[in-house]
Amino acid sequence: MRTETPQPIRLSDYRPPAFLIDEVRLDFALEPSRTRVKAQLSVRRNGEHAEPLVLNGERLKPISVAIDGRVLGESERTIDAEFLTVPDVPDAFVLATEVEIDPAANKALDGLYMSGGRFCTQCEAEGFRKITWYPDRPDVLSRFTVRIEADRSFQHLLSNGNLIEAGDLPGGRRYAVWNDPFPKPCYLFALVAGELDVLEDKLVTMSGRTVDLRIFVDPGMAPRAAYAMDALKRSMKWDEQAFGREYDLDLFMIVAVRDFNFGAMENKGLNIFNSSLLLADPETATDLDYERIESVVAHEYFHNWTGDRITCRDWFQLCLKEGLTVFRDQSFSADMRGEAVQRIKDVKALRARQFAEDQGPLAHPVRPSSYLKIDNFYTATIYEKGAEVIRMLKALIGAEAFRKGMDLYFERWDGHATTVEAFIACFAEVSGRDLTDFFAWYEQAGTPTLTVKRRYDAAARTLELELTQSTAPTPGQPTKRPLPMPIRIGLLDAEGRTLAFERDGQALDETLVVLDAAEAKVTLTGVEREPVVSALRGFSAPVTLVTDAKPKDRYVLLAGDPDLFNRWEAGQDLARDLMLARAAGRPDEVAEERYAEALGRALADQAADPAFKALLLALPTEAELSLAMKPADPAALHAARDALRLRLALHLGEQLKHLHIGLQQLGEFTPDAAGAGRRALRNAALDLLAANPRADVAELAEGHYRAATNMTDAIGGLNALMLVGGEAFEAALADFFERWKSEPLVIDKWFALQARDPSEGAFGRVLGLTAHPAFDPKNPNRLRALVSTFSSANPARFHDPSGAGYSFLADQILAVDGFNPMTAARMVEPLGGWRRYTPELGELMKAQLARIRAHEGLSKNVYELASKALGSDED
Ligand code: TRP
Ligand code: ZN
Repeated sequence: MRTETPQPIRLSDYRPPAFLIDEVRLDFALEPSRTRVKAQLSVRRNGEHAEPLVLNGERLKPISVAIDGRVLGESERTIDAEFLTVPDVPDAFVLATEVEIDPAANKALDGLYMSGGRFCTQCEAEGFRKITWYPDRPDVLSRFTVRIEADRSFQHLLSNGNLIEAGDLPGGRRYAVWNDPFPKPCYLFALVAGELDVLEDKLVTMSGRTVDLRIFVDPGMAPRAAYAMDALKRSMKWDEQAFGREYDLDLFMIVAVRDFNFGAMENKGLNIFNSSLLLADPETATDLDYERIESVVAHEYFHNWTGDRITCRDWFQLCLKEGLTVFRDQSFSADMRGEAVQRIKDVKALRARQFAEDQGPLAHPVRPSSYLKIDNFYTATIYEKGAEVIRMLKALIGAEAFRKGMDLYFERWDGHATTVEAFIACFAEVSGRDLTDFFAWYEQAGTPTLTVKRRYDAAARTLELELTQSTAPTPGQPTKRPLPMPIRIGLLDAEGRTLAFERDGQALDETLVVLDAAEAKVTLTGVEREPVVSALRGFSAPVTLVTDAKPKDRYVLLAGDPDLFNRWEAGQDLARDLMLARAAGRPDEVAEERYAEALGRALADQAADPAFKALLLALPTEAELSLAMKPADPAALHAARDALRLRLALHLGEQLKHLHIGLQQLGEFTPDAAGAGRRALRNAALDLLAANPRADVAELAEGHYRAATNMTDAIGGLNALMLVGGEAFEAALADFFERWKSEPLVIDKWFALQARDPSEGAFGRVLGLTAHPAFDPKNPNRLRALVSTFSSANPARFHDPSGAGYSFLADQILAVDGFNPMTAARMVEPLGGWRRYTPELGELMKAQLARIRAHEGLSKNVYELASKALGSDED
């Protein structure tokens, strides 16, 4: 048991830094187990008070501390596990320190560590303090000059900014000096050293400057960086066109590393990527990989302006850079791949991750007000809901004012660390709107429920819409206020034709209603026929929508809503209700047939985009269904979803087979949206067919696997074989491993696929895989492929009534926490929702959380999440 409870950090305690650093000079003598770091900081007091100098520093072996050239004696400074304190310092001085660190022993993957024989860094959020003593906070911005020295076998020595000089040294060593002219907080510092291949390109910016682009990868892998390079160039051009933002240095570099806690990192001029989000070719990467590479390359590049040039005053402002940058990457992806399809995928992800977060004990606002470990706040709420808030802001003030507000933000805050308030103030200023109420979206946690009820008066031809909103309490926020919600609304008639109407005397096809109170009534006039209401088009606010729509209305929307998001949503609503009815023991077979027929008609629509049809075919996931069933019974939901899938497979079997044949790849593989959309639909058809495991389906799946010329189809075939089960699956699984055993990113897929297997005996296989020679929990990709896929994408097996799935996860979390707390903490979430499940399951989940929390030597990271997940309801 822990004796002391760690103390939270609070937003209200923010104080400006007591000292500023104008210039930093770092000197690295790289050795895997004994790296020496010298730092020279030009320090200046910020303010009147004679405060002591307190610098962060952890896991550092002190060598020396000097001020203005004089080495301090032991009595003149104190060094503990977290800080270097010098009580007596002048107002301006040069601090010179030297420490020794051990990158080879660093399995936490923050600070300076080794991956695949190379040195690399990860400093966000608080990794820099594991490299040297420094005010490790985002509001201290300095100009960095970095000298790196290493054995000559470390061919490339990289850091932020521009290369100033480089060369060989006696004794088989080499060095390089980098200078970054842009002041930055230390979390954006990066260093990479090692043997790497490089893919090079150039881009001419809007003002005519030529920027060198370099992507560094494992030797032999340069061709697999071509797609990332293409995505990078498109991102750079897009940011010029969409936001007027030009790249600022002469060089932009990306490095791919295999061992990385997150997806990627926006270090100034030197982005570091998890190799899974950078390397792709048709044979080893799926379309989903390509899509994610495109969006993450864009995301990290866009951070150059929203994150690097303008950064966060403190970590409570994390959404200032993350929510905004996700909004920017989503807008880019929409332009690249089609707005509707992109929107549907973004909303699916939001619901799966963020809505679940909001319904559990870890619910928090987009801008939280306290934390123990900031690493735990890189959440779906900060990122995805943070992006939704920006999207609403744009909807509320209009695209033009939004762009003006962004321009003002860039102009006013360039080179500074700032706050969400300062950001919103820019939009209030340019639009002349009072955005005080809007700010509540940042401060209030929870997913609001929006209810839309209609009353049509045929004689008066008016439609009255009654809108209400409410938000359930979340931890620490028992009462909630109404939020300003932009709600896009259109009308259809019973035949699915757009129904025009008038609002305040204006003739319209669609209107934006802003609900800014708990309830409001909106009257639409000139409504010629009884309407079907298409509410919350494009998912214009991140809420749970409840309407009085009847199934027949949903069928109208599914067949013909011009808003493709709501067309898709209507299908999801119908399917969700059917599955929930089954799970509750009230199957409606007539309604299921009707749904299958409607789906068949939608699939036959020649005008519809295959990518969109693939989304129509995918039923809501069990995880999503579990949010709508109280208490959630995973076994019942799994059975219900399987049953509906079987009905669809039976009803649509011939049509699905035709689709499968008709969509066979004819020409060259292209990773673009069109090619990916066809493969998505073909694989979705096969996936549904596999719900009916007949011999001919098994044959089809096997043929699909054997004939695959790209990874999307190989995984699609393997997945279908898994659902059918039996010898053919075992053989294909073995074949796949043999073929790809030397490709770590592909073997991750092999682990993940088995972790998703919903069949009865699959848990035993997962357990067995932890002893597989290729399983390595020190590599986060491999760990997550097996363990997190199992706990988040296989509810049927994870929620085994015995509790075996839960104790397996707890074992893994505790083992990983011993060396990588950041990654261990990110595995806790699936247990967090324990209150939503049936009491028997909830108790078993809670027992594992209690076991985790009581563990000797637990990290702060896991402690925070386990104790918050247990809540006040603990024993
Ligand atoms: N800033 C990164 C991004 O969103 C996220 C990130 C990468 C991160 N690595 C991290 C956050 C390590 C915390 C810790 O692009
Ligand atoms: Zn980011």
